Amino acid sequence: MPSTRREFLSRSAMAATAGLVLSQAATADSSANVATPNFGNAKKPVIITRHTNLPTVGQAYQMLLDGGDTLDAALHICKGQEDDPNDDTVGLGGLPNEEGVVELDACCMHGPSRRAGSVAAVRNIKNVCMVARTVMQRTGHVMLAGEGAERFAVAEGFPRENLLTDRSRKIWLLWKETMSNEDWWGPGLDSPEWKPPAELARNVAPRNPQPDDVPQIQAQAKRLYAMAADIGIAPADRQHAVRRVLFPSTGTIHASAVNTKGEISGATTTSGLEWKIPGRVGDSPIIGAGCYTDQDVGSAGATGSGEENIKVAGAHTIVELMRQGMSPREAGLATLRRIARNYNSDMSKLRYVDMEYYILRRDGEYAGVSLWSSAAGDGRKFLVHDGTQRMEPFVALYQGTYVEWPIVPKLK
Ligand code: GLY
Repeated sequence: MPSTRREFLSRSAMAATAGLVLSQAATADSSANVATPNFGNAKKPVIITRHTNLPTVGQAYQMLLDGGDTLDAALHICKGQEDDPNDDTVGLGGLPNEEGVVELDACCMHGPSRRAGSVAAVRNIKNVCMVARTVMQRTGHVMLAGEGAERFAVAEGFPRENLLTDRSRKIWLLWKETMSNEDWWGPGLDSPEWKPPAELARNVAPRNPQPDDVPQIQAQAKRLYAMAADIGIAPADRQHAVRRVLFPSTGTIHASAVNTKGEISGATTTSGLEWKIPGRVGDSPIIGAGCYTDQDVGSAGATGSGEENIKVAGAHTIVELMRQGMSPREAGLATLRRIARNYNSDMSKLRYVDMEYYILRRDGEYAGVSLWSSAAGDGRKFLVHDGTQRMEPFVALYQGTYVEWPIVPKLK
């Protein structure tokens, strides 16, 4: 027992100091638990992304060689696609929601500063990946959504513009005219009440379509071609338009970049699922789903079924599995298996799921993994630049072609 008040205060002060020291030790100890793992030393810089027809990947690589920031390089690729009216999966010309309004999602993570920014369901602003970076740099928030995000972008000097190009408007019109009750309203794929669309079950079995089904699909496509001509879709665009109507996509751009110093960043941008319910937010702006970067480990991003990816926090899961020692490829496949687990590996459901991950470790090791080996018969590839720009095949969890969902809408 302290004999005097002074002694009591002095002992209390010592105890408090000891407590502080202990709490600092605890902090140091807990940060030691997430210590930087040791990796090899693969070739760097490296960029991985979805295939693009623009020169932006080569330019971004040069930015890295010139000592540029890794997030600037990743955003250069994303912004290029947002500016391109011919990419109807992002930015200007992105395919709209069911009401014909383009709504964009994007996020970014900067490894060296361990910061993130994100915007969701933004209308009328083209370069949402840059708005995500502005949220990161100029606010105390990480994510802004909807009207507030739009107003923030305008306040920061981003121009308001109409994102629905004539081309995308006409593809939307084609979809509207062919729309049946097989849209995004009603139980989702993960609901016990969900039923495979009867047409699809009969017509577009992914591995063994019945020969009898082909004429019916062809007849539907033929009618769509005629309707596309009526709507005024240019002949060169008709095949693309019919395909977009038959197989709504979740095209997206993700780019991850690492420089020679091992600094790493990632960014993702998208117009999201075509013909979605207004306000729907996919995985792309969700930090940890559509994109995740940890300077100690690496970066990952996703394209494909946003709803499925959100449920496994895909990009974060991959980075954490790499932290625990898995290679980029193993971590990606393990995360795809979690998506499969959510459906008890039920192929009658998983065949409707499209998922790709782009994975880059801090040391320059990388992988692209996909749930299915092909889409609509095409082998799936991703783009790598490590001094040589090339396409490489995804490593697939399942061999075969996934079936886009919802299926071919019935003609009115
Ligand atoms: N992966 C893009 C989306 O689902 O919106």
